[in-house]
This record gives sequence, structure tokens and C-alpha cells, in this order.
Amino acid sequence: MNKTFQQNFLANQVAIVTGGATGICYGISLAYLKYGCKVLITSRKEEVLKQSCTTLAQESGNQNVAYFPCDVRKFEQVEAMVQFALDKWGRIDILVNGAAGNFLVPFEMMSVNAFRSVMEIDTFGTFHCCKAVVGKWMSKNGGVIINISTTLPHCGVALQSHAGTAKAGIDALTRHLAVELGPKKIRVVGIAPGAIEKSEGFKRLRMDDSSGFGEDFEKLLPLQRAGNNDDIAPWALFLASEMCKLHHWINNYS
Ligand code: HXC
Repeated sequence: MNKTFQQNFLANQVAIVTGGATGICYGISLAYLKYGCKVLITSRKEEVLKQSCTTLAQESGNQNVAYFPCDVRKFEQVEAMVQFALDKWGRIDILVNGAAGNFLVPFEMMSVNAFRSVMEIDTFGTFHCCKAVVGKWMSKNGGVIINISTTLPHCGVALQSHAGTAKAGIDALTRHLAVELGPKKIRVVGIAPGAIEKSEGFKRLRMDDSSGFGEDFEKLLPLQRAGNNDDIAPWALFLASEMCKLHHWINNYS
């Protein structure tokens, strides 16, 4: 990555990363910090957040990382989290919506509340964060919103109707907001990872060794291996970078 991106190209920028304490979004937070960004991570568990802040600062060498406990299902908590970032650093350039909930469950055994819980964390959580960040900052100042979904809804898989539906909602929201907020200089984009090893999803969907698939699982994948954080974080860097400013592309390449 060092050879691809300019050193400290995110200096003076501020990112909020929901779900940033673990998995894919930990990797994104780490990459942003390494390139000079200030990063606020958020999730529900304060102990996990605290620990992750310490390791993120150690691994990146950047002390500008903070946390704010928040349940993205609750708009009031999201507003307080966004206000915390603004009070601390005075701006928000990047919002990464990565907080998600998931488990394997057959459709016929899924309770209404189980479906609702995942919809509320994934789809409503993403909506809440977009609404608070756009309302409090980006509407007047522009910025980048990166919504994390997944490849699941494009093919459909068993035991995942709740998560696939929730992620499809996120993809639709991404497209609608991209069109509606583009004129305000807000780039709304998405990343849809497949199976990413060591992530919470990987464990919960039993794609790790506990499934008994072991190496056989990887043989089912085109590249014969699962993805990892280093496959995803560079996309989050690129999408937040000057290179991804679409008017820049149009001016230079059309
Ligand atoms: C069936 C389940 C269940 C399970 C929970 N429920 N786990 N049903 N099988 N394994 C049901 C409960 O019975 C309850 O319904 C409802 O879901 C809410 O459960 P609670 O435990 O009360 O909710 P809560 O404490 O809010 O926890 C939310 C959660 C939890 C989603 C259930 O797992 C969570 O907080 N997860 C966050 C982290 C996470 O999951 N990360 C993975 C993201 S992976 P009833 O009817 O009993 O009240 C991801 C990748 C996607 O998104 C794709 C990868 C390729």
C-alpha cells in the first residue's frame, strides 16, 4: 500500500468508522490512521472499543484515534456520537458504515424480532449514521460515505434471508443517496466484500475451521482463498482519496 498511496494523504481529515473495533472495519480504521487520518470508532461494547483504540494507536503509530460507545439502532445515540466527533475534531470528512449483525438461521425458525434486529442494525443503522452526519456536517461541507454490504444478496444463500435483505437495503440506500447527495459534493459509495477471514461474519457463518469445511471451503472460492483485511482496506483508502473524486476523473479522462 505504501507505494500506491501518498504518505499522510489523509492528514487533517476525520473519519467515523462504525463497527471499527473489529474485523473488516478494524482494518479500514488502521489503514486510515496509517495515512494520517483522525479516526473515531464506534460500537456497543465499551471494553472492546477501548482495547481496539489502544492496539490501533500502537499498530499505526497515530494517536489520533478515539471511541464512543453507540448502538446504531438508536438515532439519539448516533447523533451524540457524531456530535462527539465534531466537538473533538471540528469536522467529518469520511463516514464508513460497517456495523452489522448476523447469525445463521433457517427462515422457518427465524422470529420476527430476529429479522427486525438485523434490519435495524444494518439498514436502519446505516440510515441513522448517514442522516446524522449529513445533517450535522456534510450537507454544508461535503464528504465521503462508504457503506459496507456484502455479495450475499446478489446470489441468495440459505440461512441468510435476514442479512441479505438488510444488506440489499443498504445497497439501495447507497445508490439513492449517491444520486441525491452528489450535487452537495457528498460521494456515497459502497464496498461489498465476500468471505473475509478472521472477520466476525466469517466466524458467525462458520466459514472458519469450526465448520468442518477447513481447506475444502477455500477450494470452493475462485481464488482458492478467502479474502482478508488487506484486500478490503485499500479500497476504503482509494474511495476516500482525491483519485476517487469523480469530477476529477471526468475532467481528466473525458
Ligand atoms: C436465531 C437468533 C440468533 C440465532 C439471535 N437471535 N441470535 N435467532 N438464531 N443464532 C434472535 C433472538 O432470539 C432475538 O429474537 C433476536 O434475534 C434479537 O436477539 P438479541 O440477542 O436479543 O439481540 P441483540 O443483543 O441486540 O444482538 C443482536 C444480534 C447479535 C445481531 C443478535 O448477534 C449481535 O449483536 N451481533 C453484532 C455483531 C455481529 O453479528 N457481527 C457479524 C456481522 S457479519 P427473539 O424473538 O428471541 O426476541 C456480517 C457479514 C455478512 O454482517 C456477510 C458475510 C459474507
